Amino acid sequence: MEGKMDVRDYLRRGLRDLWYPVVASWEVGSAPLGITRLGEHIVLWRDTTGQVHALEDRCPHRGARLSMGWNLGDRVACWYHGVEVGGDGVVKDVPAVNACPLVGSKCLRSYLVQEKHGAIFLYFAADADNVPPPFELPLELEDTEQYSHFLCTAEWKCGYESAIDNVMDPMHGAYLHAASHSMAEGERSAEMQIVPTATGFVFEKTKQRGVNFDWVEFGHSGALWMRLSIPYRKQFGPGGPFWIIGMVVPVDDSHCRVFFWRARKVQGWQRDVWRFMYRTRLEALHWEVLEQDRKVLEGLSPHARDNEFLYAHDAGLARVRRIMLRMALSQLAAQSGAEAAMAGATA
Ligand code: FES
Ligand SMILES: [Fe+2]
Repeated sequence: MEGKMDVRDYLRRGLRDLWYPVVASWEVGSAPLGITRLGEHIVLWRDTTGQVHALEDRCPHRGARLSMGWNLGDRVACWYHGVEVGGDGVVKDVPAVNACPLVGSKCLRSYLVQEKHGAIFLYFAADADNVPPPFELPLELEDTEQYSHFLCTAEWKCGYESAIDNVMDPMHGAYLHAASHSMAEGERSAEMQIVPTATGFVFEKTKQRGVNFDWVEFGHSGALWMRLSIPYRKQFGPGGPFWIIGMVVPVDDSHCRVFFWRARKVQGWQRDVWRFMYRTRLEALHWEVLEQDRKVLEGLSPHARDNEFLYAHDAGLARVRRIMLRMALSQLAAQSGAEAAMAGATA
């Protein structure tokens, strides 16, 4: 039996029993795609109906990367000796051998897949038998009649926890992004408060709203997400405030992939105007802001978490850390309970 995993290490690798976005929809074409998420190598491909499949990226024969192989629709074929594995993780054919006993056996872990809001989401179970929770994201993504969005995603060389901390920290808007198109206004100091919600909480400035990055919400509804809004100048087109829904997926201990959906409540011809203006003018400005975040996070001291001095503005991120720590502890406890039961059964 493996040694007991430290809760910090477990968290750094990624919480489970959650849905995570792993790539944007456009990234999965006809060739199998190999990615790493939560430290796991995964191969994704699309079948002829457009459905995406996700499997452990390891050929059951001798371990070649299936993502180097061929998309045969409902299955992938390994490049090395042609073994074919279905989206369910079951070996369908071993063309090099007659009546190979490998055929028909479930050799690989398969992932539940959902494609929505322009992204591919996978369910990462703590235990293979765990049933995925219902999974819903904020209204600004789910209600496509009222809202329109763009997804922007990027890989950052920092642990995913730093990327979450960053979004849970509204005060950095007035400093790090002070020279940006959207966060130049407002007070440079504030008192903050926490207001509970049905799925998490809001962390907000007590005296300023609708001026800068003034509030952020953390939610847990089958997936962990954050939401905020930033006011927009008229020159950037029609629609209400600019909504940002953020999610982060761990790649490995020191890399993550961020997903930011930018949404506006806008319909009809105004939606077309806004989408045109976003593509032509706003998108570049947004990337500039995100680059500022990326630079700071990738430059954080390697042991930043061990040498922090948190103050009142960090209450939001401290609360998220506590929530995630509790989730990690309960997942680890369930794991060691299962291991103990197994040891008892085989003793
Ligand atoms: S390693 Fe894949 S078929 Fe041999
Ligand atoms: Fe930022």
